[in-house]
Amino acid sequence: MYVNVAVLKETQPHERRVALVPSVAARLVKLGAKLHMQSGAGDGIKLTDATFRDVTFTDDRKALVSDADVVLAVQPPALDVIDAMKEGAILISFIYANKESALVRCLLDRKITCFAMERVPRITRAQAMDALSSQSALAGYYAVQLGATHLTRILPKITTAAGAIGPAKVLVMGLGVAGLEAIATAHRLGAVVEGYDVRPETQEQALSLGAKFVETGVDARGKGGYARELTAAEKSKVAAALTQHIQQADLIITTAAIPGRPSPKLISKAQVAGMKPGAVIVDLSAEGGGNCEDTRPGETARIGQITIVAPFNVPSFLGGDASELYAKNQYNLLALMLKDNIITIDWKDEILAKTVLTHAGERKDLPPAPAVKAA
Ligand SMILES: NC(=O)c1ccc[n+]([C@@H]2O[C@H](COP(=O)([O-])OP(=O)(O)OC[C@H]3O[C@@H](n4cnc5c(N)ncnc54)[C@H](O)[C@@H]3O)[C@@H](O)[C@H]2O)c1
Repeated sequence: MYVNVAVLKETQPHERRVALVPSVAARLVKLGAKLHMQSGAGDGIKLTDATFRDVTFTDDRKALVSDADVVLAVQPPALDVIDAMKEGAILISFIYANKESALVRCLLDRKITCFAMERVPRITRAQAMDALSSQSALAGYYAVQLGATHLTRILPKITTAAGAIGPAKVLVMGLGVAGLEAIATAHRLGAVVEGYDVRPETQEQALSLGAKFVETGVDARGKGGYARELTAAEKSKVAAALTQHIQQADLIITTAAIPGRPSPKLISKAQVAGMKPGAVIVDLSAEGGGNCEDTRPGETARIGQITIVAPFNVPSFLGGDASELYAKNQYNLLALMLKDNIITIDWKDEILAKTVLTHAGERKDLPPAPAVKAA
């Protein structure tokens, strides 16, 4: 007995990642998986089919999934892929159900057990499965590299015979996983770094990574360790405290997000107008509409002498490492279910119960419908 695991080639534009890499393939085989991949699935990260051992390749994605017990992907698969899956099979992928109503309908119709990677709970035991964190950490690192290539100055202090140049000032706004990694990277590259977040516990984290913390006196801790939206009065208090820091920075990296809401606007047009000529903003929240009023999501904008870079899908730029970490996250999740060559789902396991999106034709992410009172 073995479990058929199929891995799709990603089809969304600019998606370079793949859900399986050779080192993880070998570990899945040990758990009892028989591996099948779509031909060229690793092309985006320069992995040829030949680099995968013990994997069968096929061109036809519908044939690939039709016999699979488990399908692995990075982005939500196309509807025809779900239609071709066996009833009751498992799909593990990022889904973001609120943007994918047709796909969710299809998952329910086909009675697919879908584990949505963005739903992995942020608890200690699930850290090895937390793809939001692994991908955000890479994005935070890359934001500094991206910003550095758009600056006309260097980040560290440099001394030459002709004179010295002082270090660049970097301000990181939003200190979740990506923001903290951006602080660590900018600090390692020799910049003078400041950090800001509405969750006060990030102060100590910023300090431990070598940054100063910008105090605004606003505490916006929300549910589950996330931030809540600010009130109008809080927004103006924050803006007043931040303007000077924004306008002294050479490079600003913004990462602020509130689950289920558009990205909060942390930098106004007026603040951009007062920034130093040549300054750069790297806005990592393009998917949610951006953290700056002048951000054009998915584009690089020139506003006067300021450059605002706001790419989509930043982890995909580092597709090799992003795939490696993502594949490990998925492996660790699958290892909760795949043992001794069979799949057994223990619904009492908090991680599986909270990550599942659809099962046996039912949505599992919605609160149960209220009981109807008898007349
Ligand atoms: N225990 C775990 O295993 C684990 C793993 C990863 C993350 N976490 C926690 O989950 C939470 C979210 O992390 P994330 O990286 O997904 O964050 P995120 O992507 O949801 O948000 C990024 C940051 O933006 C901040 N933010 C929101 N509104 C803001 C505003 N108006 N101004 C400034 N900053 C604002 C948030 O506080 C957050 O720090 C954090 O508390 C993090 O420590 C826990």
